[in-house]
Amino acid sequence: MKFISRPSEELYGEIKVPGDKSISHRSLICSAIAEGISKIINLQESEDVLHTLKALKQLGIKIFKEKESYVVEGKGFKGLLKSKHQLYFGNSGTGIRLMSGLLAIQDFSSSLAGDESLAKRPMKRIIEPLLEMGAKISGSLENTLPLNIDKADAVKGIDYKMPVASAQVKSAILFAALGAEGDTKIIEKSVSRDHTEKMFEFFGANISYTKKETTLSHTERFLPQEVKVPGDFSSSAFFIIAALISKSSKVTLKEVGINSSRIALLDKLMEMGAKIEIVNKNSFGKEPVADIIIQNSSLTGCEVLPKEVPNLIDELPILFIASSYAKGISRFNGIEELRHKESDRLKAMQIGLDSMKIKNFFDGETFCIEGRGKDYRPVGFKAQTFFDHRIAMSFAVAGINSESFIEIDSPECINTSFPEFINLGKQLGCNFEIS
Ligand code: S3P
Repeated sequence: MKFISRPSEELYGEIKVPGDKSISHRSLICSAIAEGISKIINLQESEDVLHTLKALKQLGIKIFKEKESYVVEGKGFKGLLKSKHQLYFGNSGTGIRLMSGLLAIQDFSSSLAGDESLAKRPMKRIIEPLLEMGAKISGSLENTLPLNIDKADAVKGIDYKMPVASAQVKSAILFAALGAEGDTKIIEKSVSRDHTEKMFEFFGANISYTKKETTLSHTERFLPQEVKVPGDFSSSAFFIIAALISKSSKVTLKEVGINSSRIALLDKLMEMGAKIEIVNKNSFGKEPVADIIIQNSSLTGCEVLPKEVPNLIDELPILFIASSYAKGISRFNGIEELRHKESDRLKAMQIGLDSMKIKNFFDGETFCIEGRGKDYRPVGFKAQTFFDHRIAMSFAVAGINSESFIEIDSPECINTSFPEFINLGKQLGCNFEIS
């Protein structure tokens, strides 16, 4: 497949972005361990989420689609069955890390693997706390994949101070804590997304949480639920920026998740001068949702502080694109975690920004981008994606504001999180060409 993004002057329309990736993974796993039949509406049907779904099926959980919803026949915290084959999570850090926590409390052994990118990502961050809880888990010598989990003698709750701000690590601990003796308390330096806490609460867990502290106490069972997944804010971010940097636009994104631990991008963009309105606030279960209206705007540079990073970690690549079309210098502090995502996103973006002739530099602490203003139009080039979905979509958005085109290399990677990206973009007026 060849994907070329060409200049598109106007973006108009109203779309509903598919379900949130983080919440989709959690809704499947929580439904699988509830006692009874749950229903999930608006599940994200991306490769990442479908890998988690397939792994749960391999572990003996019946899941099927009924009209537009997924039905999951939950078997309780310890009701999973040993898989005959290794569990494969593709590109998904969320899938593998959350499931590791849950598999650590089962009475059987499991082996977990993933694709080339996931195989390079750090797993020590989950191995360490899970070992401390008494789980039997090991990775390769470098603490990477495959992960092998054996039946533990006993898993105990822990008091854990998180060394990295990571919702995936926090969630792995919380899933293991469901089968542990005693309470588990997790303390975070910076606030990471709280979808697991919210979903546990929704399924009836004995959980309390503030911005920096989560406590899970003995929970007998999860009761089955009907989960409605909000639109994915991180997927929406690509169209938010696309609309902001277009010559002329008015785009409405319907029923998007606006969980406060996810939307620092909106605050940042508003500080930069973005015309964004949040209307029709509502909630799906414990998760807040709203419609987001975006109009073309003249942006100025921004400053991102380390404590803000976990809240916009997945949106940094597209915020770098917004900064390229802003006036003045943007400064990003404390963004080293970008090196441990689906690709080394700092390097991938530096390479792409260089191709766009956008001056950028990293002094080991701060990443700076010299924006060229809203009338800037980079000349045509082929963007290297390193098979990373968010890098691919970021340069596709830049392409609609290019002089002639930006070609996206290995565009199939977009299916990791947002298979509908190209078609929805076209609906809004993006000049996306597929051949
Ligand atoms: C996620 C947490 C974040 C994020 C990822 C999804 C989650 O990763 O980057 O895309 O669903 O918990 P970390 O937990 O590694 O920060």
